[in-house]
Amino acid sequence: MSGETGALSALLTEDRRFPPPEDFAANAVVSDPGIYERARSDREAYWEEWARELDWFEPWHTVLEWKPPFAKWFLGGKINVSHNCLDRHLNGPRRDKIALLWEGEPGDTRSYTYAELHLEVAKFANALKALGVGKGDRVTIYLPMIPEAAVAMLACARIGAIHSVVFGGFSPESLADRNNDARSKVLVTADGSWRRGGILALKANADVALERSPTVEHVVVVRRGGELSEKVDASMKPGRDHWYHDLMQDVSDECAPEHMDAEDILYILYTSGTTGKPKGVVHTTGGYLTQVYATTKAVFDLKDDDVYWCTADVGWVTGHSYIVYGPLANGAQVLMYEGAPDAPDRGRFWEICEKYGVTVFYTAPTAIRAFMRWGDSWPGRYDLSKLRLLGTVGEPINPEAWMWYHRTIGGERCPIVDTWWQTETGAIMITPLPGVVETKPGTATRPFPGVEATILDDAGEETDAGYLAITSPWPSMLRTVWGDDDRFRATYWSRWNGTYFPGDGAKRDQDGYFWILGRVDDVLNVAGHRIGTMEVESALVDHRAVAESAVVGKTHDIKGQAIAAFVTLKEGYEATDALMHEIRDHVGEKIGAIAKPEVVIFTADLPKTRSGKIMRRLLRDIAEGRAVGDTTTLADPAVVASLKAKYEHEES
Ligand code: PRX
Repeated sequence: MSGETGALSALLTEDRRFPPPEDFAANAVVSDPGIYERARSDREAYWEEWARELDWFEPWHTVLEWKPPFAKWFLGGKINVSHNCLDRHLNGPRRDKIALLWEGEPGDTRSYTYAELHLEVAKFANALKALGVGKGDRVTIYLPMIPEAAVAMLACARIGAIHSVVFGGFSPESLADRNNDARSKVLVTADGSWRRGGILALKANADVALERSPTVEHVVVVRRGGELSEKVDASMKPGRDHWYHDLMQDVSDECAPEHMDAEDILYILYTSGTTGKPKGVVHTTGGYLTQVYATTKAVFDLKDDDVYWCTADVGWVTGHSYIVYGPLANGAQVLMYEGAPDAPDRGRFWEICEKYGVTVFYTAPTAIRAFMRWGDSWPGRYDLSKLRLLGTVGEPINPEAWMWYHRTIGGERCPIVDTWWQTETGAIMITPLPGVVETKPGTATRPFPGVEATILDDAGEETDAGYLAITSPWPSMLRTVWGDDDRFRATYWSRWNGTYFPGDGAKRDQDGYFWILGRVDDVLNVAGHRIGTMEVESALVDHRAVAESAVVGKTHDIKGQAIAAFVTLKEGYEATDALMHEIRDHVGEKIGAIAKPEVVIFTADLPKTRSGKIMRRLLRDIAEGRAVGDTTTLADPAVVASLKAKYEHEES
């Protein structure tokens, strides 16, 4: 293992233990620890049991076909995701239960019962059909956190169209790249959205992207409504652009769900990798729904009277699996919030928890660390006594933040589920079962029953500190990278034979619990968002003044990691503050604000080996303020000393 993963050997000693509270365990969806053994003894039969809880038009004839690295689950089965999320709840008491409760940043609200959401989805499915969208066609969804985001996803699923949701914070250029890679036929967007009191003008961004998105024939524009839509005057191109509310006027509200093959594609979701080009992660229908359904039910312990809130954005996989598909397949009451946690003030999340009586709350460590910094008085103002279960996802949670979450938000009574998974895994993979597993702050504990994970070294030998590895196929696994089987093989399956490589370092303790230590590749995790260093580097060198750049992550108290960029300028450009800001903004324009480097260091040279390879390990040492490692292979060792001095100067 390389020196870069040396942190893996740093043993974490944590002896605080939190067994499931007795009353919680007594009523938990899963309270029998025997589930682990049952799953292990016959993994396929175990997943079949979960799959049988869903509605299938036709049963499968084979549970799993595994021709590494290609898996097929529930072969021959016919199913529709939107039918499972909506129609199957309509014949019982859930018909008039609230499916989606929405709160806008300015405090406006909307809600849909299952019956109402079903009608809205059926209508929009018909509207998409009227625009020529059919089974297998791609639809890009570039929407803010408004109910129509869920409606659009479910409408695609209903007619067998493949959605590709693009996070609203991505730039026009990122949107265009994704439209083109997926060859999307239709784009669904909105005039805008509120974000921290400001307006995010999505349609204006989309218009820029559309100038170079030749495959997109039609654009559907949702009016966000309220003051925002009075302020934003979205320009509409006749023939191409259509208002959502206009399309919904004359369509039928009956739309029979398409009978999809279990292995038909449900969606593509782009995520950062180690090259400059994001990968389109492909998820299919039957296995994906089975695992998101199972994990939502078992990990979040969902009951019919729960008010469930996952604070992620639908633009990320967490929003797909745990705002839309998992909870709705379970008939849950799902809360969705448009805005920022500090708008209008830092108590907003807790105000919402009190207002709606949230019982299950799922958020990211980066948010928890920010709340912690903002102080206990914000949550202290609100009644959080309805909360009964807390979750985290997206990055490692430090024990201190875990303890704060446990005490201040959970009132020391709520179990915490620290859930490890990825865009590629589609659903939760390593997590406590809250009624069964004793937790310890900072560890995601054990693989979900039916998931087989271990820790391997470079040679593929088991170890207690090395790389996380998933050793057998799981139902919601990615099936490939859109249009690029070779990249799928090379990225995930080439390290070991037939074993999945997630790209994370991990350690196993004496209880067999997994401690995830972060990425071991050139992917950063900034505030729970995945950003490839190469993506940022390509955006940097795209600036007219930049000759060369190297990007590394540096530890950040709240965001987990922040981006540090080392930049050499072309001849004739001067290293000024103004230029630094311009370069940062340039990255924001190319990728999106989340990718703007926090620190930009101008340097005459980058540390390189004699063969010309940039030594990122040394840059990481500099960015972290560590003693710089071995420099003997450098072409010019003096570069490092001058860079280090410069960095320390900038930081101070
Ligand atoms: O490094 C791991 C980290 O987030 C990566 C996956 O990012 P993404 O595909 O954007 O999905 C995020 C939401 C599922 C992983 O490779 N990660 C995610 N959850 C955890 C985590 N690291 C530690 N603990 C977690 N609970």
